[in-house]
Amino acid sequence: MPEKKNDLIRIDGVSHTFTTDTGTLPVLEKLTLSVAENGFTAIVGPSGCGKSTVTRLVAGLLKPDAGSVWLQGQKVTSPRDIVGMAFQNPVLLEWRSILKNVMLPLEIVPNTLSPADREARARDLLKLVGLSGFEHKRPSELSGGMRQRASLCRALVHRPEVLILDEPFGALDAFTREDLWQTMHRLREEEPFTGVLITHDLREAIFLADEVIVLSGRPATVQYRQTLTQSGPRSLDQLYTPEATETLNILREQIKLARRDEEARS
Ligand SMILES: Nc1ncnc2c1ncn2[C@@H]1O[C@H](COP(=O)(O)OP(=O)(O)OP(=O)(O)O)[C@@H](O)[C@H]1O
Ligand SMILES: [Mg+2]
Repeated sequence: MPEKKNDLIRIDGVSHTFTTDTGTLPVLEKLTLSVAENGFTAIVGPSGCGKSTVTRLVAGLLKPDAGSVWLQGQKVTSPRDIVGMAFQNPVLLEWRSILKNVMLPLEIVPNTLSPADREARARDLLKLVGLSGFEHKRPSELSGGMRQRASLCRALVHRPEVLILDEPFGALDAFTREDLWQTMHRLREEEPFTGVLITHDLREAIFLADEVIVLSGRPATVQYRQTLTQSGPRSLDQLYTPEATETLNILREQIKLARRDEEARS
């Protein structure tokens, strides 16, 4: 597949096998996909098919056995600071305040900001996600949803080009999750980034992304790809239109197929 000019993330024919004490486990098989600059792609697929492995490859935390991963036209060989990540478990440091947790990447990633500018940057983001007034609280003093908001701020504080989200809202209740979906759209409008979202929630995928990719069962490859008609912010009502329902049904069917194929292979 020829590389398109505006592909910010490109995974090119990637295969990967894990070797453990008990044998080898092929996880990815000639996986090829790309995300355009400022695009937002959701990746869904059966549990254990290799989704988090894909995020680790893009983040440069894992080297593929075969094929290559490219960010901004440069081959990924080690972690790059143009990537921000947020996970299901926010892993905030309990001995630091929320503000100091959010500022952490600015202490690690090279930048020219003064201490005052770093703090202002962190405060601005916390305000954007509705956490003004909580800057000096410890992580354990916040609710799960608030911790996840802080974790998103931390992932974005150094203005990464790429934001990787690995089931960031999976542990939250439905209402908090919907609130955070809207926060995500707000963040993206304020500070455009190229996003990859791993999720098990198909509604979340079609609410946030502009493209949904269904991975096959292990070893995973792209099984199905659906471009969504909407790419910017949208209202929750739009999840209940006939068009959205049809898309959800197609995706659900594709996941079923992926799981069935995987079972047949094992
Ligand atoms: N470092 C590792 N060593 C050995 N096996 C691994 C390693 N990391 C992941 N695996 C295995 O590879 C497979 C894919 O793992 P991965 O975490 O990418 O799946 P996933 O699609 O993110 O799953 P889930 O939906 O449950 O989060 C799993 O069977 C997992 O046990
Ligand atoms: Mg995972």
